Amino acid sequence: MKHVMDYETVSLDDEKSALVILDQSLLPGEIKVLSLTNQRDIWKAISTLQVRGAPAIGVAVAIGIYLAAKEIDEDVFDKFYNKFRSALEYLASARPTAINLFWALDRMDSVVLKNATKPIGEIKNILHREAVTIKKEDILACKNIGEYGLTLINDGDGILTHCNAGQFATVKYGTALAPIHLGYERGFRYKLYATETRPLLQGARLSAFELFERGIDTTLICDNMVSQVMKNGWIQAVFVGSDRVAANGDVCNKIGTSGIAILAKYYGVPFYVCAPTSTIDMNTPTGKKIHIEERQHSEVTEMWYKKRMAPEGIKVYNPAFDFADNELVTAIVTERGIAKPPFEKNLKTIIES
Ligand code: MRU
Repeated sequence: MKHVMDYETVSLDDEKSALVILDQSLLPGEIKVLSLTNQRDIWKAISTLQVRGAPAIGVAVAIGIYLAAKEIDEDVFDKFYNKFRSALEYLASARPTAINLFWALDRMDSVVLKNATKPIGEIKNILHREAVTIKKEDILACKNIGEYGLTLINDGDGILTHCNAGQFATVKYGTALAPIHLGYERGFRYKLYATETRPLLQGARLSAFELFERGIDTTLICDNMVSQVMKNGWIQAVFVGSDRVAANGDVCNKIGTSGIAILAKYYGVPFYVCAPTSTIDMNTPTGKKIHIEERQHSEVTEMWYKKRMAPEGIKVYNPAFDFADNELVTAIVTERGIAKPPFEKNLKTIIES
């Protein structure tokens, strides 16, 4: 039987003109591959987290917008571009926080504009190439993040991770989990602590699954147990991913990340963020300027439970992300190197390198 880690998180099926994803909303209970051929289904897959994690979302929309462009039956550029922009804006509305979604769509938009004088058929081929390149670059970026991240940990370390910034969140390797996967392949043995990550349980359903399936020593904890495991001295480093890094080094990531960063500082545990440069948003000055997605209340009150676990009519606040202030971040590991404070200056150097 095919191993779950051998499935591609996100890919393009040229024959069927489809975005192919591993449905993450069903893991670990069911391994199901979806072949999405219309824009509504692609939008829904992103919005309902069937495909999720900032880099995977970026690749999914790049493929999605190529498929939309392929269907546009216009020979005149202006007419083609109008329809292309509508499709692009539709996909851009699927989720608001992960910058990779907008970064990938911007990249696809700029290749169209750069080639505006070419025949529409050729523009469609260029979009195909760009989507495939974005996917390939993601694999390489994650591998390099893994190599740099490995220099920060030692054999036998206890490592805490939050949400899922592993293979499922990218095309391959992951960001925060890339050093762990690469290190494991090279014989290093780490002790992983995965927070369950309420309310959507990306830690319990995805990180714990991914690490456990690889054979890595993994302990699942509830989100409110982080202080306890740090106090026990079991954690030598925190590794998380990011949905958007602001220019000043504030790190937006899954809700709960900020609290973990505060605890890490208190207990003297280094707090590392692994993110490709596509996640660094130099146009957003600080974390306060990031649009934090708020999701349905039912994710908190009833999802996963056999019956509703909160009183009917109770007020609920369900932000999907928060941000760790830059002063809590030890280093940001990118595919081009490791940025240390002061982030304002050092992120700029990495982006311009
Ligand atoms: O809501 P999700 O599951 O898309 O949130 C994902 C995260 O917060 C990840 O940590 C982040 O995208 C980094 S993924 C490499």
